[in-house]
Amino acid sequence: MLSVVLITGVAGFMGSHLADEFLAKGYKVKGIDNFLGGYPSNVPAGVDFLEADLDDLSKIESKFEGVDLVVHAACTAYEGLSVFSPSLISRNTFQISANVISASIKHKVDKFVMLSSMARYGTQISLPFVETMQPLPQDPYGIAKVASEMLLKNMSETHGMKYTIVVPHNIIGSRQKYDDPFRNVASIMINRMLQGKQPVIYGDGNQKRCFSFMKDVTNPILTACESDLVNGLTINIGPDEEFITINELASRIANIIGFELNPIYLPGRPQEVLNANCSADLARKLLSYQTTTSLNDGLTELIEWIKISKPRRFNYHLPIEFVTDKTPVSWTTDLFNE
Ligand SMILES: NC(=O)c1ccc[n+]([C@@H]2O[C@H](COP(=O)([O-])OP(=O)(O)OC[C@H]3O[C@@H](n4cnc5c(N)ncnc54)[C@H](O)[C@@H]3O)[C@@H](O)[C@H]2O)c1
Repeated sequence: MLSVVLITGVAGFMGSHLADEFLAKGYKVKGIDNFLGGYPSNVPAGVDFLEADLDDLSKIESKFEGVDLVVHAACTAYEGLSVFSPSLISRNTFQISANVISASIKHKVDKFVMLSSMARYGTQISLPFVETMQPLPQDPYGIAKVASEMLLKNMSETHGMKYTIVVPHNIIGSRQKYDDPFRNVASIMINRMLQGKQPVIYGDGNQKRCFSFMKDVTNPILTACESDLVNGLTINIGPDEEFITINELASRIANIIGFELNPIYLPGRPQEVLNANCSADLARKLLSYQTTTSLNDGLTELIEWIKISKPRRFNYHLPIEFVTDKTPVSWTTDLFNE
């Protein structure tokens, strides 16, 4: 029997791609977003859409009627900014999760899938991060994600809702916000280089990350939604291959674009995790995860999409709650547009 799925954050990067896949599989898809981060044009045709702030429980609650599956993708996933805007990020990470969980339980949703973040791991004594490690978040965003996870586990176990927590990491692909000065490092670099501007790197650029291509994570996330094998589990989804420095990322993008690289280095951001890499072993075993797109191919596709969508001025669209001597100058001035 076909099911009804409700996707929060459906106007965002991941939520909109997931909506496409659910529609293609014949699901009835409902979605909620307030466009704090996403674009109206991202919402796929065919989605039964409600423009609303998930912080307003009374406004969103009836949308959950008749829903079998909830995919909770909505969030302000601004790890660096959260250190200077903890109230904004907590509200749009933890508080909205509490509302979505509450409405789901009230309307007897069968399964709840939450998109968490590798920020949950913080700095561990060894790499890669595996799901059995104790979460050690080290910034307000990671703390709000872990608190949301704990609330989901607690409420699901108490009230009998199936759940899975998936942990995607550093995804790239079309529809990603690339005019946002606060997040999406690869897209920011591409947007600047396509405007003839040098990329901005925080710290010495030797911090290391793995990057995932959206098409490689879509099906494993759908499998996590449909499979009872992963109920009650937290599971990383994304590659553990091509673990590279941010300097190397800049250099690969510059090579693909044909840009002469001379990055602008700014002081490191407070609380930034130096090396972050998740093991994909559990996802390979339970969700048939496979990395099929190399980083260079993924970056090439992203660059082509940003070229077609046209490079844009950066939009400083979120408030910084307080400024200290640790606030990056790229956020307190218009540096990204210079
Ligand atoms: N993209 C990544 O690399 C990545 C990595 C790890 C985890 N995640 C997680 O995956 C999820 C989706 O990330 P994304 O990259 O697609 O982000 P995104 O910003 O593109 O999408 C999130 C959407 O949530 C919406 N939203 C935020 N607050 C809202 C509110 N109060 N009410 C209604 N809608 C609201 C935004 O408008 C946006 O459209 C997030 O939970 C994020 O933490 C993403």
